[in-house]
Amino acid sequence: MERTLVLLKPDCVQRRLMGRILSRFEDKGLNIVGLKMLRVTPELAKRHYAEHTHKSWYPGLEAFITSAPIVAMAVEGPDAIRVVREMVGATNGLQAAAGTIRGDFSSSRQMNLIHASDGPESARRELAIFFAENEICEYTPMITPALRADDE
Ligand code: CDP
Ligand code: MG
Repeated sequence: MERTLVLLKPDCVQRRLMGRILSRFEDKGLNIVGLKMLRVTPELAKRHYAEHTHKSWYPGLEAFITSAPIVAMAVEGPDAIRVVREMVGATNGLQAAAGTIRGDFSSSRQMNLIHASDGPESARRELAIFFAENEICEYTPMITPALRADDE
């Protein structure tokens, strides 16, 4: 089992796509174990996007990510980090494959609707930024026996 951080970005909230995109993760069989809406501050943006703060396009990204509320989700499942990244698709919506979230809903490099952690280390780091331990709700979904075999 893995956990990964998903953010529904301001364009997702503004475009009323939160429910449809969250549903994709539920439909896949992933388990939502944390969920909150918040406004990203410039300080939080710099912390979350630490690897990008020196880049020429960072000021635009910060203005975008702080422009409206976001939704943060902790998503759990087998191989969840890779599976969610593949569901999200390539960074630029114009290049993301059809069938991915960005490929189906985004036509922008910046306004690409969603963030997902890109590996185990970033998942750990990013989940800790957005969720306290007691904000993660562990539970066993009753649907599990219908989703996969016992040994999977
Ligand atoms: O989100 P992802 O990991 O696919 O891409 P990234 O390279 O880590 O970039 C983080 C975010 O910065 C992207 O999702 C875009 O919203 C934004 N970005 C941008 O505004 N301009 C760029 N040239 C590249 C990325
Ligand atoms: Mg990234």
